[in-house]
Amino acid sequence: MHNFTLYNPVKVLFGKGQIKELTNLITKGKKILLTYGGGSIKENGVYQQVISALDGYEIIEFAGIEANPEFNTLMKAVEVCKNKKIDLILAVGGGSIIDGTKFIAAAANYAGDPWEIMTKPDATINSAIPFGTVLTLPATGSEMNCGAVISRRENGDKLAFMNPLVFPQFSILDPETTYTLPKRQLQNGIVDPFIHVAEQYLTTDLNTPIQDGMAETVLKTLIKVGKDIVNGTKDYDTRASWMWAATNALNGFIGVGVDHDWATHMIGHELTAAYGLDHAQTLAIIAPKLWRHQMENKSAKLLKFAHNVWGLENSHDEIAIKQSIILTEEFFASLDIKLSLKEYDISPDYDKITKNLFKYSQTPLGERRNLDEKAVKEILQMAH
Ligand code: NZQ
Ligand code: ZN
Repeated sequence: MHNFTLYNPVKVLFGKGQIKELTNLITKGKKILLTYGGGSIKENGVYQQVISALDGYEIIEFAGIEANPEFNTLMKAVEVCKNKKIDLILAVGGGSIIDGTKFIAAAANYAGDPWEIMTKPDATINSAIPFGTVLTLPATGSEMNCGAVISRRENGDKLAFMNPLVFPQFSILDPETTYTLPKRQLQNGIVDPFIHVAEQYLTTDLNTPIQDGMAETVLKTLIKVGKDIVNGTKDYDTRASWMWAATNALNGFIGVGVDHDWATHMIGHELTAAYGLDHAQTLAIIAPKLWRHQMENKSAKLLKFAHNVWGLENSHDEIAIKQSIILTEEFFASLDIKLSLKEYDISPDYDKITKNLFKYSQTPLGERRNLDEKAVKEILQMAH
């Protein structure tokens, strides 16, 4: 196991009815910027719950943060923060709203050109506006981590940044807010956390039974609830298990002391930037191909995956590994999730995608840093 430091200061309030606790989480007199998306929170009553809980507070609203939050939109919110001297931001929505809010919080206090936050790994973020979240879409884990992914469509960019200054102060997770999610987002909400776990678990075997056991439990939970969730179950416990699984997939705990991959995500971000596929849609296509491409390097952990997640203890090792990938694809397919670019009528421009992927950093991808342009092209060809 590698040495590690674990730091996660996010106060999580989980369960039905917790939105009313906002009044105990935010000090009266603070000037609040309420950030949200295209209006789902108005249709499902979450907005009303937030407004009722914050009766008497000074709230300025910033609506219209889009899926795959856009730099130019977020910069308008940065202006509001500066002009209105906002004390705290409250993000209400899915990963895009929370990620966008992290960028707004950091950019409002940033001395240079805010796009440097995304493009320069050594950009110095000295402070950020404090913020909290009300999560309405279990998927990204953004509610309990300090990462954010921001798009700049004019450049064809979709880039990530991480900084401990953009951990949410608090996050409210009420499974009942997820009842209105459409099928496509329910599908995304199973695949994204599944691949978050895989990016940390299907790497090198470093003899880490706690992390591996937690990772396997999150995967088995997603497999167990997947079908019911995508079919729109209103069973509270199923929704709660799903929501907590998605948070645990990327709140740092399963990732301590182990090697990380993230190549599927890096390639997937390029596919979203180029073709507009949802984040999770890209992951379902790329991950199984990448595992096949890297089967030898990942064999020890793929075997654990086969044994402990898919119950394939009785097969020959190589057969079990191959079968575990097939079973994962069958699981995604059983949720009506597409597994190739062709199914979306996309013929990728391999050169353009790989060139853009290595535009800001030439370091090869993967836990072994062995996935260069050539390897990425091979994986994309497999994904077609
Ligand atoms: O905009 P509104 O009207 O709110 O509608 C949203 C949006 O259209 C809708 N929605 C959310 N909650 C709902 C709801 N509709 C009905 N009922 C509800 N309760 O869902 C749509 C998608 O929302 P979005 O926030 O875009 O989805 P998601 O949570 O999947 O976030 C995706 C973004 O997060 C990034 C992705 O790259 C992508 O940009 N990621 C962030 C990560 C992180 N910060 O750690 C890690 C991930 O790997 C990922 O890269
Ligand atoms: Zn993801």
